Amino acid sequence: MIQIQNLTKVYRLSNKQKKEQNTKEGKKIAADHISLYMKKGEIYGILGTNGAGKTTILRCLATLLKPTEGSVQIDGYDTVKEGEEVRKRIGFLTNEMKLDPQFRLNYLVRFFGMLHGMKDAEIEERKNELFQRFGIMDFQDKLIEELSTGMKQKAAIAVSLIHDPEVIIFDEPTSGLDIITARAVTDYLLELKEKGKTIVISTHIMSEAEKLCDRIAVIMDGKKVIEGTLDEILQQTEQKDLEDAFFSLYQKTNK
Ligand SMILES: Nc1ncnc2c1ncn2[C@@H]1O[C@H](COP(=O)(O)OP(=O)(O)OP(=O)(O)O)[C@@H](O)[C@H]1O
Ligand SMILES: [Mg+2]
Repeated sequence: MIQIQNLTKVYRLSNKQKKEQNTKEGKKIAADHISLYMKKGEIYGILGTNGAGKTTILRCLATLLKPTEGSVQIDGYDTVKEGEEVRKRIGFLTNEMKLDPQFRLNYLVRFFGMLHGMKDAEIEERKNELFQRFGIMDFQDKLIEELSTGMKQKAAIAVSLIHDPEVIIFDEPTSGLDIITARAVTDYLLELKEKGKTIVISTHIMSEAEKLCDRIAVIMDGKKVIEGTLDEILQQTEQKDLEDAFFSLYQKTNK
């Protein structure tokens, strides 16, 4: 279970960042008083365009960023005050965290297993299960830099899930993947949901949110503009699919 209360993240901008973002403002409010909760056994989708604040929110959940205001609790543990307890319980994936290219996959998975305090035999069993599930068994002795994009993503997923976490936080897990590889990832997320895990993903792909997510929050410019099941969102926006709902919300917010 994840409870997000009034989560606000303000970045201070350097002069270089001000220039890049074409603004005179010295700060950027990337998450603006966001409250959400994610239940056990559901896939929760955070949907938003580039720069909406998805990664910022997920990094706060994963204890990598400290909220400027508000709080996040994961299975009852506060991400700021009880970060270590939180990190034991989560698997975090983001494309900003690249696996070190000069290491072998086998070594990396074992290394992360050890960081989580797992025993050798336990790591081996779990590693074999994940590698088999993702069809990367034959690649375990390869260097990360030798793997294709899809293989790298599967490897990163295996690394993030080695300790069999209860809470899964995946930032755009299918980004850059072909439809077959993407399907392998989303099918696996559905399996994890059946096992009662709490899963939160970010995406900007409407069809993925529609098919995969039990509930969705749409984030625009750091703010939550709507939240609910697909049906609830369609009803509230009086639209026939998520893409139309998204556009109508976008037009309303940017009037
Ligand atoms: N470290 C940082 N310093 C300053 N501004 C930042 C920083 N990280 C993100 N931002 C800004 O905060 C806003 C939200 O960024 P974030 O990466 O959370 O968006 P996102 O929804 O994940 O986008 P994308 O779909 O491109 O991954 C953007 O305007 C971004 O430029
Ligand atoms: Mg992002």
